[in-house]
Amino acid sequence: MRKKLVVGNWKMHGNRSANAALLAGLKEAGPWNADVAVCVPFPYIAETALALTSQAIAFGAQDCSAQEQGAFTGEVSSAMLADLGCRYVIVGHSERRAYHHESDQLVADKAKAALAHGVTPIVCVGETLVEREAGQTELVVKRQLAAVIHTLTHCIGEIVLAYEPVWAIGTGLTASPEQAQAVHAVLRKQLQAATQKADAMRILYGGSVKPDNAAQLFACADIDGGLIGGAALKTADFSVICRAAS
Ligand code: PGA
Repeated sequence: MRKKLVVGNWKMHGNRSANAALLAGLKEAGPWNADVAVCVPFPYIAETALALTSQAIAFGAQDCSAQEQGAFTGEVSSAMLADLGCRYVIVGHSERRAYHHESDQLVADKAKAALAHGVTPIVCVGETLVEREAGQTELVVKRQLAAVIHTLTHCIGEIVLAYEPVWAIGTGLTASPEQAQAVHAVLRKQLQAATQKADAMRILYGGSVKPDNAAQLFACADIDGGLIGGAALKTADFSVICRAAS
């Protein structure tokens, strides 16, 4: 039985006082019988680490460099994230693929860099609405995952995978449990062909997960938790979602 994982993706939201209130609220609301983490903006990682000393809630970042170190102005390495105690880093979020033109290979290289420093990459895959309507959903997510499998080889079992249909992110449109489960099953099968650990790996669903739809999504056989955007910014909503995973 896979333990569920719920990860809050704060994106570019927050400030010191709002973050302190949110984290205090979450500590108060937990613990849950699920793994819970928040992925916060870089400048707030150190304070988040101080706020979450009990380790009941893990923390991480939303991106990392594929490079080890050096003259890469503005980049943050996975070694730095490890130094700050990050447990997770999101890589290949569709917003980065779209706005920063991140390729499948770059995402795979970032995942590799994270693993090299003991930070678990949460690798995001997902199709756009145009791709779904053209019947290309499987093709797209399999291509995105294939790059990661090819690059990580025997380490692929160490990642967390997240299926995030682009059309469902921040739109209020959620994939139905059936739609999400169908893609998760495809991804699980692809992982099974690559590693014996596939059945123990967690595949999260992300895209407008809310308190009122989380339980149905998490009840699906291959959905092992969620990557939560908007609803992760409200203590009450996020804690209901964590409870739904418990
Ligand atoms: P959303 O974002 O829950 O606001 O749709 C999810 C994500 O982008 O990870």
